[in-house]
Amino acid sequence: MTVTETFFSVDVEDMQRAIAFYVNAFGAAVPFSSAGWTSLRIAGVRLGLALAAEPSAGAVGLHFAVRDLAAARSAVERAGGAVASSPYEVAPGVMVVGVTDTEGNTFTLTQSAGTAPEAQLYVFGGADGDRELDRLRQIEGALDPASRRILQQASPTKGWRCLEVGAGAGSIANWLANVVGPAGSVVALDVDPRFLSSDSPTNVEVVRQDVREWQGHGPFDLVHARYVLIHLPDYDRAIQRMVSSVRPGGWLALEEPDFLAARFAGGSAEFEGAFQRVSASIEAMFRNRSMDPALGARLPAAISKLGLTPVHVESEAHLAPGGSPMASIMRASAEQLRAKYVATGRADEADVEGYLRFALDPEAWGLYYATVRVLARR
Ligand SMILES: C[S@@+](CC[C@H](N)C(=O)[O-])C[C@H]1O[C@@H](n2cnc3c(N)ncnc32)[C@H](O)[C@@H]1O
Repeated sequence: MTVTETFFSVDVEDMQRAIAFYVNAFGAAVPFSSAGWTSLRIAGVRLGLALAAEPSAGAVGLHFAVRDLAAARSAVERAGGAVASSPYEVAPGVMVVGVTDTEGNTFTLTQSAGTAPEAQLYVFGGADGDRELDRLRQIEGALDPASRRILQQASPTKGWRCLEVGAGAGSIANWLANVVGPAGSVVALDVDPRFLSSDSPTNVEVVRQDVREWQGHGPFDLVHARYVLIHLPDYDRAIQRMVSSVRPGGWLALEEPDFLAARFAGGSAEFEGAFQRVSASIEAMFRNRSMDPALGARLPAAISKLGLTPVHVESEAHLAPGGSPMASIMRASAEQLRAKYVATGRADEADVEGYLRFALDPEAWGLYYATVRVLARR
């Protein structure tokens, strides 16, 4: 039985009231929430709230997140325990089974589609493969030139070892692999490596892992991530993992969005409200998931706090007309995430339709967001 995490689970009758209580009383962060199951983080400790049909007055149980539910059940039985309930789904892809130990104590085993529940937070996690690959390729086409320019400032050369975090469709990992040549290597890390093609250079090693759990293979001469930390409520944990992977004197390059930079910049007045409201819904979607929509702007301070020296900082405002590569990327995101935008209550379906049309109109200019790039030396 492979246990990935252990934490307390509490049965509740009213999920929203329980969340509000923990947030107000203990300043809890809410990294994952669904109709049936919520994960809270209080001072670094995980707590699970489970919506129970008949909660046994504040019942508290030990909860184990496991990789393989069937194997875990067998292990409990072999150890003299018993299975107390049939497996059931508490949230999409999250299966739970109740078990008891030899002393009659009850606890739950949870398996969440091979990953910890928090990993499901990635907003594009459930996206259709073809559309998501197309969106990733559009991001690469629009953003790679600036990323390569920043990375070249670190003077990567033959023989270097590089770590590309959240490698996506792999263009930067592959480019770095060519720069460092056969004497060097690149680890392409991603929780969802399905788009990392098998025809990448032979010195690219694909590793499927959550960067927050990453411990291996270092030290690296260069570690890079683009548009990854924005999806993590506990991005500081990921930055720490990356910093400790960099060799002394080596380089860390981070590029993340600042969605608070968004504003309507011109075009038909009918679009203005839709653009502003959809931009507000993007901000709300991130905040509701305990993520920071302005993360990009916080990077320099976050990196300095960890003792690294930022040697280059820039913020690129993506001020672009409809039909441009940036407008197409934001259009593709809106198409995939429209239900999540509308669920925030900050924009409705008509607003999303307006935003989609805006992003096609060459006369319509939007400042969609800004990308902050930081290159730092350890
Ligand atoms: C918006 S895409 C960006 C891809 C690529 N960095 C780029 O800019 O072209 C975010 C990528 O980060 C990956 N990702 C999300 N959360 C992650 C995590 N906790 N650990 C590692 N990778 C993660 C996703 O699977 C996805 O491939």
